[in-house]
Amino acid sequence: MTAQRINPSILSADFVNLQSELEAISTADLVHVDVMDNHFVPNLTMGPPIVERIQGVSPVPLDVHLMISDADRWAPGYADLGAYSVTFHAEAAEDPVALARALRARGARAGIALKPGTDPEPYLELLPEFDQVLVMTVEPGFGGQSFMHDMMPKLRRVAEARARFGLDLWLQVDGGITVDTIGIAAEAGADTFVAGSAVYSGVPEERIAELRTAAAA
Ligand code: DX5
Ligand code: ZN
Repeated sequence: MTAQRINPSILSADFVNLQSELEAISTADLVHVDVMDNHFVPNLTMGPPIVERIQGVSPVPLDVHLMISDADRWAPGYADLGAYSVTFHAEAAEDPVALARALRARGARAGIALKPGTDPEPYLELLPEFDQVLVMTVEPGFGGQSFMHDMMPKLRRVAEARARFGLDLWLQVDGGITVDTIGIAAEAGADTFVAGSAVYSGVPEERIAELRTAAAA
């Protein structure tokens, strides 16, 4: 079986106690950090200074998900501050390949994200330039939404392209991942699972363990 990763999203954490909320998910593979600009999505979260502090105290490396416009300008800074992976949305970059190369040159994994309405086809031939693909299973912007089952054909399509190119590409899903939906996404080809409300609505360490079990079932 391929490796499976659980990346809790701190969007559902208590922002006033971020350090302890980060320590509570020390058994995670990566910490998913949702950056929103109230332009690409209708919500606003945090920017580089806060992410840099999170990077400084987190026991687990960061998986930064940029839901921002003008990714060409902002994404490299997240790689420079030490993020393990930096994912931008396909529509948010003028030149996705140049940006992926800039991220890799800075030592980060480069990710491309596909919103529910984004056709994956134009991006499949670019996959060798990336280390991970994020297939959104909700409309980006908010935690606590329901998993979109109708994204599974897209996930399968990307998984097929990954196999065709023989790539070591992580296939990530984000939105509505719970113990009930994680197996469905795994079956469609996902190996990296973002979960916000499912992790922070209970004891995070227990929730992470339950998600791991459900993903492997
Ligand atoms: C939504 C964010 C997600 C969000 C997931 O736009 O990208 O990472 O935190 O939250 P849940 O797991 O609650 O759907
Ligand atoms: Zn996210």
